[in-house]
Amino acid sequence: MGRGLLSGKVAVVTGAASGIGAAVVERFLREGARVIAVDLTDQSPGRPDLLVIKGDVADAETWRRIADTARAEFGRLDVLHSNASMVVRTPAHELLEADWDRQLSVNLKATYLAVNACVGLLREDRGAIVLSSSVHALVGVPGHPAYAAAKGGLVSLGRQLAVEYGPEVRVNTVLPGPILTPAWDGIGEEDRLRSVAATAAARFGRPDEVAAAVTFLSCAESSYITGASLVVDGGWTAVKDSA
Ligand SMILES: NC(=O)c1ccc[n+]([C@@H]2O[C@H](COP(=O)([O-])OP(=O)(O)OC[C@H]3O[C@@H](n4cnc5c(N)ncnc54)[C@H](O)[C@@H]3O)[C@@H](O)[C@H]2O)c1
Repeated sequence: MGRGLLSGKVAVVTGAASGIGAAVVERFLREGARVIAVDLTDQSPGRPDLLVIKGDVADAETWRRIADTARAEFGRLDVLHSNASMVVRTPAHELLEADWDRQLSVNLKATYLAVNACVGLLREDRGAIVLSSSVHALVGVPGHPAYAAAKGGLVSLGRQLAVEYGPEVRVNTVLPGPILTPAWDGIGEEDRLRSVAATAAARFGRPDEVAAAVTFLSCAESSYITGASLVVDGGWTAVKDSA
């Protein structure tokens, strides 16, 4: 067996085709894990240590397929990184009900579905769950009502799951700040500069910097950490301008 932090482990990563999820897949593979990579969009073909599943995390059937694949192909599941997400940027009074429902389903309900399907396997292997929330769980930013509600919900859900499934399963949540991924593609230069200026680090974060935190919370290096929230935001929530 190799010496990686996740050597011998099997991990599921959702939202794996892009940004932070793709960086987590890459890091998990480097740390010796075998990975089931899940996304709604097409991904590069798999390899012996990487199985690719195309599916919607808001659909219970996808989670049945994920659990069946983990059981049939690897016989175990040690890490679940629930990370897939989407956002519709509109104030609440203009947000369509369907867009509210979809954001709550993809960003919050998906984790319930994940646990429903996978917690048996995770318990057997004394596994770890890492949820991707956001600094939007802590700070109000105009135009994100459903996204913020879902991301805030994930912080409480993570705590709840830690209590429910300990001591066998540890559950922690990461709260990224501005991380330069395709999620920023539609956002203008002015808003980008404002976000970066609001960090103590004075720059965007990189997906691999969040992947490092997710890896830490997924492996034995964090063996006494559960029910916790880890902000990975270059100090964005610490900075408050004097205005
Ligand atoms: N990038 C940031 O600045 C930032 C900040 C705070 C929180 N986050 C959180 O980090 C996580 C990753 O963000 P990112 O920036 O890498 O996003 P991204 O947009 O680059 O990637 C998200 C991925 O999720 C997939 N996805 C969307 N809906 C899905 C569904 N229903 N089923 C399966 N896959 C689906 C997309 O196809 C995409 O590949 C998200 O949970 C996001 O909310 C990101």
